[in-house]
Amino acid sequence: MRLLIASSIHPPKVEALKKEHDVVCAFNAKEDVLKEVIKDREVLIFRSGVQITAEVMACAPDLKLLIRAGSGFDNVDLDYVKERGLGFIRIPEPGAKAVSEMAFGLMLALSRNIVNGDKLWRAGRWAKKELTGYLLTKKTLGIIGCGNIGTRTAKLGDAWGMRAIGCVENPTPPRGKEMMEKSHVELMDFDQVVAQSDYLCIHVPKNEKTLNLIDKSVFEKMKKGSYLVNLARGGVVNETDLREALLSGHLAGAGMDVHEKEGEGNISPLADLDNVVLTPHIGAQAYDSQEEIGDRIHEIINDFMAKASEEATTEATVAGV
Ligand code: MLT
Repeated sequence: MRLLIASSIHPPKVEALKKEHDVVCAFNAKEDVLKEVIKDREVLIFRSGVQITAEVMACAPDLKLLIRAGSGFDNVDLDYVKERGLGFIRIPEPGAKAVSEMAFGLMLALSRNIVNGDKLWRAGRWAKKELTGYLLTKKTLGIIGCGNIGTRTAKLGDAWGMRAIGCVENPTPPRGKEMMEKSHVELMDFDQVVAQSDYLCIHVPKNEKTLNLIDKSVFEKMKKGSYLVNLARGGVVNETDLREALLSGHLAGAGMDVHEKEGEGNISPLADLDNVVLTPHIGAQAYDSQEEIGDRIHEIINDFMAKASEEATTEATVAGV
């Protein structure tokens, strides 16, 4: 098949796909480049960092299938995908494992001053007395958005001896019961989660309802001395308001893997604050997870080809060929 890989996926898998298919790679290409390279493609594989607009897809008359090599779909025009009847397959599970573990990486880095300790000791400062911290054990872990990633994070929190609480968009008593049984997370409303959490982790998709969801009004409701961790999408947390909440000392710290402005050359407005840990959207970048995503891409394409050839055989039979 003719594939366009528009984001970096597991490199050995790119090589394997090249052996079986006609592959064009244009990682993180801008719209004008995508419009060119997609022209004769049948399958588009992408992650975050590229914008898959209706205009881009319209340039590809043979396009049949989009594979989102991960979870979020805020960067693709799904109305167009539906309207044109294109196939759209996401691969959320492997990345969810990596993102939920990363939440703990950020919580620990913040609570135990790991990044500051590293920075100081590299410069010869033995800051043992200053760099005290807090246990995660027995603290309240709040999850905004108990989907795939959020429930995994809650489960890990439970294993860590934390009290996990969380909220979902449409809570119902049976859903609450199931979440408690399966993930040991207690569902409550958004404001309660915000007010009770020592660590507030954001795991919602980005859409018109979640844009700027975590702003000044939310920071004011958070416990003094609590921490914020954002592994969802840039724009869900208002960085200007977060900066104020950190500078005022109301929040003890923030771990931000996703940012309002991402990509080479951008600098976060929080970059000068010591109580912030910043990473470049690497939540899902675990080797194991990317390898698993690569395997799934391979399977999806094989299944797609098998189905297409089955349909062609059926059509030929019906036509009496
Ligand atoms: C995702 O949505 O799966 C993650 O943001 C990882 C990515 O695609 O870059």
